[in-house]
Amino acid sequence: MQKNILIIPGDGIGPEVTACGKAVLEEVAARYGYAFAFEEAQMGHEAILATGVALPDETFEKAKASDAILFGAVGHVRYDNDPTLKVRPEQGLFRMRKELGLYANIRPVILFDELLDASSLKPEIVKGTDILFFRELTGGAYFGEKVRSEDGEMASDLMVYHRYEVERIAVKAFEAARTRRKKVCSVDKANVLESSRLWREVVQQVARRYPDVETTHMLADNTAMQLIKHPTWFDVIVTENLFGDILTDETAQVVGSMGMLASASIGDGTGFFEPIHGSAYDIAGQDKANPLASILSAALLLEIGFGMKEAAKQVNDAVARVLKAGYRTSDISGRMGHKDKIVGTREMGALVIQSLREQLL
Ligand SMILES: NC(=O)c1ccc[n+]([C@@H]2O[C@H](COP(=O)([O-])OP(=O)(O)OC[C@H]3O[C@@H](n4cnc5c(N)ncnc54)[C@H](O)[C@@H]3O)[C@@H](O)[C@H]2O)c1
Repeated sequence: MQKNILIIPGDGIGPEVTACGKAVLEEVAARYGYAFAFEEAQMGHEAILATGVALPDETFEKAKASDAILFGAVGHVRYDNDPTLKVRPEQGLFRMRKELGLYANIRPVILFDELLDASSLKPEIVKGTDILFFRELTGGAYFGEKVRSEDGEMASDLMVYHRYEVERIAVKAFEAARTRRKKVCSVDKANVLESSRLWREVVQQVARRYPDVETTHMLADNTAMQLIKHPTWFDVIVTENLFGDILTDETAQVVGSMGMLASASIGDGTGFFEPIHGSAYDIAGQDKANPLASILSAALLLEIGFGMKEAAKQVNDAVARVLKAGYRTSDISGRMGHKDKIVGTREMGALVIQSLREQLL
């Protein structure tokens, strides 16, 4: 049966890395005989320039009609330097998450052994890091009421959570833990935030349904420290929107670079697959971006979106082989950088495809 995949390249390095993710999906389709049909649509700054809004209705309709979405990133320096602009690229992403009901953002943080020396931390601390984050994606301060007083002197972002929102992501995290090392760490700020006290109460209730899973509760500030002290302690981490955003970026550095981390956002309908990094306009258009996060997002699309586990494994293995052969984009060149074979975005993408071909022959 044909699968329709919507490609949304977005801004900055988005188009460069997404082209590599798409090429990998095309290669997988050709090798396994899958029928993938691709369409492309706009979102973010480029969509604002073309249509005046960050998420044109046409893109949203295509998204709803597709079986999975591979997304790049949105964002442009113009908006970052002018917070008064009312139409902003990230509005497209937030509307997409809310309206597609993408409440669970799953972020695997796995250290490839080959990247031990690309981590900011000592190899003996990070070796074996394999964490699965569940970041709540449609609640919290990102979506609560936003206020700016008339005189501009006061602002607030309401952090709101409902019981059902905590419960459904907690269930996803516990179910995943059962297929892994059976440990869930729930991260909150229950010592100060009422929304966190609700979070903890609900996670404790869900945990009782999973007696075979070891549950811990950790404050977000302590977690930030423990993640760089003992990253290998963690198995599954479940947390709310803002803490999840910050802690996963921190953990990206534990495993080498933002350019290595993929994510899957899922809910009740179409899944949305994207690297965790942003539009990185400091390196856009220079063939410097690491495309592996987009390629690994394509692997998550195969695995979580379509249940094609074997094909996903082949993509992950192809990435590992390319790293083992010493190829690096500059963001993951390690302390022993002189030994690395530094390549650009396009070459890295081509190497993964070549490795995939050799594996599948
Ligand atoms: N999901 C998204 O679309 C998303 C997420 C985060 C930030 N943003 C937006 O992106 C823009 C830039 O934000 P930022 O600089 O804080 O975050 P960023 O993730 O774009 O970049 C942070 C740093 O990591 C580097 N980096 C990121 N991805 C890389 C890759 N694939 N290869 C090599 N290096 C990489 C960048 O060069 C930069 O130095 C902003 O407008 C922000 O709003 C979008």
